[in-house]
Amino acid sequence: MGEAVFQLHQVTHRFGELTVLTDLTFTVQPGERVGLIGPSGAGKSTLLSLLNGSLLPSQGTVQVLGQDLSELQGQERRRLQRQVGTVYQQHHLANNLAVIHNVNAGQLGRWSLARAAWSLLWPQDVETAVQALTQVGIPEKLYARTNRLSGGQQQRVAIARVLVQNPTAILADEPISSLDPARSHDLMALLCRLTETTSKTLVVSLHDIEYAFQYCTRLIGLRQGQICFDAHPEQMDTARIDALYALSA
Ligand SMILES: Nc1ncnc2c1ncn2[C@@H]1O[C@H](COP(=O)(O)OP(=O)(O)O)[C@@H](O)[C@H]1O
Ligand SMILES: [Mg+2]
Repeated sequence: MGEAVFQLHQVTHRFGELTVLTDLTFTVQPGERVGLIGPSGAGKSTLLSLLNGSLLPSQGTVQVLGQDLSELQGQERRRLQRQVGTVYQQHHLANNLAVIHNVNAGQLGRWSLARAAWSLLWPQDVETAVQALTQVGIPEKLYARTNRLSGGQQQRVAIARVLVQNPTAILADEPISSLDPARSHDLMALLCRLTETTSKTLVVSLHDIEYAFQYCTRLIGLRQGQICFDAHPEQMDTARIDALYALSA
């Protein structure tokens, strides 16, 4: 087994007085597809922010590919952060721009400012963008305006952007929350296929446990900021799921 992609040790996170995650310890190995499940407010998004380094833990350590992000600065930190690509619930796309510019945003960590600016007039590396859009099934949308696309297509653009970034791990924060069931299955199947064919590691937060069962190799249940279970889908039973979603007293 190669080097762990993520290694969390006794991680606690607070926003001011509010403790959102408590004492999380777990490791994610290369090639795993981890479904992060739990009710709204359980801390899923916060945990993903710790994995991609947009937040640093209040206590404990988060290692990405063996390195502690909080011990790195500047360019070194950004280089490590580029190994983790994130697809957000709200896409975070520039809606008024053509799809190609949003896909090329995945290059920004690598491109000089001049090249990035120039690319807004004369799109650079069209080939890479087309390739990524082909992988997500919408190559014909290269020059379409992003806000003319459907929600599912916009989510595919967000995935294409991450593919162009070519990270070791992909994080997806409730990527199907605004899609109907048929499109949700399409998108989850796509995410799995892509991570498999490109040998990437996937951590995906999902509100709906059914999709996690079907598409993930490991399920981590979060409840009120604590790990409620960490198991393979075949080890799961209804009691564990009931405990995850039970209303607190
Ligand atoms: N930036 C923030 N500042 C203060 N509280 C936050 C912030 N982000 C999230 N929270 C709180 O942390 C808890 C967990 O939120 P979140 O990680 O978004 O959960 P989930 O993604 O599982 O719905 C919630 O109580 C939420 O209100
Ligand atoms: Mg969330």
